[in-house]
Amino acid sequence: MTDLAATLDGNFALDVVKGLGQPIKSIPSRYFYDLRGSELFDEITRLPEYYPTRTELGLLQKHARDLARLSGQRRTVLEFGAGSVTKTPVLLDAVDAQTFVAIDISGEYLAQSTTALGQERPGLRVIAVEGDFTRPLDLPSLPRPLIGFFSGSTIGNFAHHAAVDLLRSFRATLGEGALLIMGIDTRKNPQLLEAAYDDAAGVTAEFNLNLLARINRELEGTMPLDAFEHRAVWHDGYGRIEMHLVASRDMTFRVAGQAFAMRSGETIHTENSYKYTLAEARLMARASGWEPMAYWTDAAEMFGLHVWAAATQEHLP
Ligand code: TRP
Repeated sequence: MTDLAATLDGNFALDVVKGLGQPIKSIPSRYFYDLRGSELFDEITRLPEYYPTRTELGLLQKHARDLARLSGQRRTVLEFGAGSVTKTPVLLDAVDAQTFVAIDISGEYLAQSTTALGQERPGLRVIAVEGDFTRPLDLPSLPRPLIGFFSGSTIGNFAHHAAVDLLRSFRATLGEGALLIMGIDTRKNPQLLEAAYDDAAGVTAEFNLNLLARINRELEGTMPLDAFEHRAVWHDGYGRIEMHLVASRDMTFRVAGQAFAMRSGETIHTENSYKYTLAEARLMARASGWEPMAYWTDAAEMFGLHVWAAATQEHLP
């Protein structure tokens, strides 16, 4: 696990220097989640404007019996990007899980949250894996078949082609007979979307800016944090919310020994959050080796909870 952390650090400098060197600057969003970033994200999930977490939690609670029925004999849950593990207990109880594998890029944060979970549930075997779930993972051998859990509409943070690749790799990791429980955000009124990614208290702005603070801290950066502003915009053509950091003046700075310049108004693109209609989500499932089994949403259709089954030959005529 320590080896893995070292690899991630190595790529951080490389990825940032590469991203800032592009004509349209960007930084991969996985780097949001250092310890401070994970804490700030947890704060985001409790904001009044940020509906996904509480809506998804409500759906898991409401459909606990359905989840129990659909899960059958499966007793092992594998969560991709587990974070603070707030919604997970509802799922673990619903399916009477005996083994829980939590994978997250922020190992320190994951250790805290899974330790608490293990203490609350002495009968549950909890395995914390620090790692990037988009890369091949070293997993222990587990009681199968498995239930995958990918919540919080994290799938929306991947471009469509990368989302399909990722879901295919989940299919390979989870294996025959697996179920995948997916939380996917829906397309809706852009004003609601923009508010969810630009809250009045400024927590999302702080979360976005923490990425630059992390660069300054870990990569000998000199980025002027006070000269960047958080911006969240809905792009209807792409069906996504875009998150940017906008330079409020001309500037130069250094990162990892490299010099960079930005013009006033130029942006660093830090995140996308794609939203999916039900038809789009189902197409994505079928394009990546999964067969949709169940779908639930709230009355206002703010968020979708999907259950997919690993596709077999019979689904692939
Ligand atoms: N998966 C979350 C989402 O797309 C991640 C997220 C929420 C996020 N708020 C954010 C990422 C703000 C960057 C900035 O909703």
